[in-house]
Amino acid sequence: MCRSLFLLGSLLIAIIGGNAETLPCKLKDTQYGKVCVCTSDYCDYLENPTLSKDSEFALISSTKKGLRFELSKGNFGAEDKYIIKDYEEPTAQCSNDTNNATVISRLIDEALTGIFPNAEKASTSTTRFVTIKLDRSKRFQRIEGFGGSFTGAVSYLLENYKEQEIQDHLYKSFYADKGLGFNLMRVAMGGCDFDLEAWAYNELPENDIKLTKMDKLDDRDVIRVEQIKRLREVSGVKNMRIKGAAWSAPPWMKTNNRWTGFGRLKREFYQTWADYHLKWVELMESNGLPIWAISTGNEPTNGVFFMFFVKFMSLGWTPQTQAIWLDEHLGPTFRKSKYKDIVIFGNDDQRYTSPYWFKLMNQTRPNSLKYIDGVALHWYWDEIFGSSFVEKTNDYMVDKIQIISESCIGDKPWQQAKPLIGSWDRAEKYGRSYMSHIKDGFQGWIDWNIILDEEGGPNYVNNTVDAPVVANTTTYTEFYKQPMFYMIGHFSKLVPEGSVRIEAIPSNVNLDAVAFLRPDDKIAAVLFNSGRADLDIVIVDTVHGNVTLNVPAKSIHTILYN
Ligand SMILES: *[C@@H]1O[C@H](CO)[C@@H](O)[C@H](O)[C@H]1NC(C)=O
Ligand SMILES: *[C@@H]1O[C@H](CO)[C@@H](O)[C@H](O)[C@H]1NC(C)=O
Ligand SMILES: *[C@@H]1O[C@H](CO)[C@@H](O)[C@H](O)[C@H]1NC(C)=O
Ligand SMILES: *[C@@H]1O[C@H](CO)[C@@H](O)[C@H](O)[C@H]1NC(C)=O
Ligand SMILES: *[C@@H]1O[C@H](CO)[C@@H](O)[C@H](O)[C@H]1NC(C)=O
Ligand SMILES: *[C@@H]1O[C@H](CO)[C@@H](O)[C@H](O)[C@H]1NC(C)=O
Repeated sequence: MCRSLFLLGSLLIAIIGGNAETLPCKLKDTQYGKVCVCTSDYCDYLENPTLSKDSEFALISSTKKGLRFELSKGNFGAEDKYIIKDYEEPTAQCSNDTNNATVISRLIDEALTGIFPNAEKASTSTTRFVTIKLDRSKRFQRIEGFGGSFTGAVSYLLENYKEQEIQDHLYKSFYADKGLGFNLMRVAMGGCDFDLEAWAYNELPENDIKLTKMDKLDDRDVIRVEQIKRLREVSGVKNMRIKGAAWSAPPWMKTNNRWTGFGRLKREFYQTWADYHLKWVELMESNGLPIWAISTGNEPTNGVFFMFFVKFMSLGWTPQTQAIWLDEHLGPTFRKSKYKDIVIFGNDDQRYTSPYWFKLMNQTRPNSLKYIDGVALHWYWDEIFGSSFVEKTNDYMVDKIQIISESCIGDKPWQQAKPLIGSWDRAEKYGRSYMSHIKDGFQGWIDWNIILDEEGGPNYVNNTVDAPVVANTTTYTEFYKQPMFYMIGHFSKLVPEGSVRIEAIPSNVNLDAVAFLRPDDKIAAVLFNSGRADLDIVIVDTVHGNVTLNVPAKSIHTILYN
């Protein structure tokens, strides 16, 4: 019964939207909230909105209650107030007669008039109010883009989905324009904890400084590279930029001859390890995947300070040793090669380490920092170590790209180390963090695994966490897009590479917002109401004047206009 209503709704949207590619979320209630279900023959998408008039705006909305990228349109200077109606549970209609003409005509009415019923009044008792001024003449950082990570775990789960169509839905959901519009991707050089086992290139023969076995892809990468190429093809992603990072060298290059624990690179292999990076880039490119960037290595402090907590592959560096390696080996090796323009990111670790890291690198080898084009930080522990760490890092990293290169939830002892399927609270944590990092000047964001299983793995040391999409490994015929997926999308989808952040100042704390001027001169602003009441938002634009939106409690929106 409910199903027939759902199909009717999507059919109407498909016809009236004029584009069969726009399909609504197939909502499902789960333990912690709502997810959108994708199968090989159905997945939700939203074609990017187009604007027909200069005064027109398009708004996409997601709410805790159940809106997911709900599209609506309006005009500056037209209505007194546009009301975004929250999702309503269809159960009452379902359990009654679904052939009831009233229900059907109401559905048609809603589809035809958009989601703005003229007379609807928001409950005045709780409505809060905020004004937000957007000034496109005040400009800040350039946006490099958004992305996720293609780990061994992701590759393994995809392989278990036997139907090509459902794999394609995952690729398109993240990287197509009608999906989240991602353009960045992080890939491990060899293995990482989200793999079935620890691994690296050229594990054997030992002491092989010529890396004679790095002349072809590892079998695991044969599969992964094919998958990523398929992703690139079916999603139509433009300018996909892949960032590589190594978790550990093969054990023979390390002081402890192990994957994890207190282990650093042996001095005699400093050049070999630089060559390993170059060979990996060559291998990827010769197999059809050009590499945009590399980092100096994932979380270097894991192998020198945190080895009692970290059980997975790591390679320990101090800032002093890394400065020497970068200055004498990695930097010159790349800058003298065919890949001299590769972007090299430093740190690739928690932000509480970064100011000291670069300070000590600079003290050891002032030249080492000139090889670094960007700062890549992980978001864990940001609640404790605030934005001042970013400001201090900037002293050493003037005019360098600044991105987040890893984020996920479930890593802390007080959090459940697995997906809380459907959790809006976890999505809100993402929303707050994207907002604050973008305001701090960050230019890009690469999230961790794009898909994990129900337990938050596979991870070879059970270091399980949450992910924006969760697989159903019972059947491998469905996957679930979590609220987190849409939250990330509110930042990525309508903010393409090359957008520039502009000034957006809310009049009070009821609203969190960031805004961008896109390369096509349109404005995209992300509006986040994390409060428990609905909110009247007066958008004051320096060119178009005002428009007032009433948005539900616990909601996020992206508005697009000329
Ligand atoms: C069916 O509709 C009636 C009238 O609209 C309503 O009062 C009732 O609660 C509905 N039944 C269920 C099971 O929701
Ligand atoms: C149709 O539904 C409406 C409201 O749910 C109810 O008032 C009306 O009696 C129903 N009509 C029929 C013919 O069932
Ligand atoms: C980096 O080191 C150089 C040389 O020691 C020094 O002159 C410079 O001030 C340092 N940079 C910063 C930002 O401290
Ligand atoms: C991971 O968890 C599984 C199941 O609980 C267990 O059998 C396995 O030994 C654990 N592995 C590690 C490395 O802790
Ligand atoms: C996966 O699918 C099975 C079979 O349909 C179902 O019983 C199970 O609840 C699903 N898992 C999740 C997390 O929804
Ligand atoms: C726009 O809103 C601001 C703040 O509420 C107000 O001061 C201003 O008069 C409004 N402008 C117009 C043209 O309504």
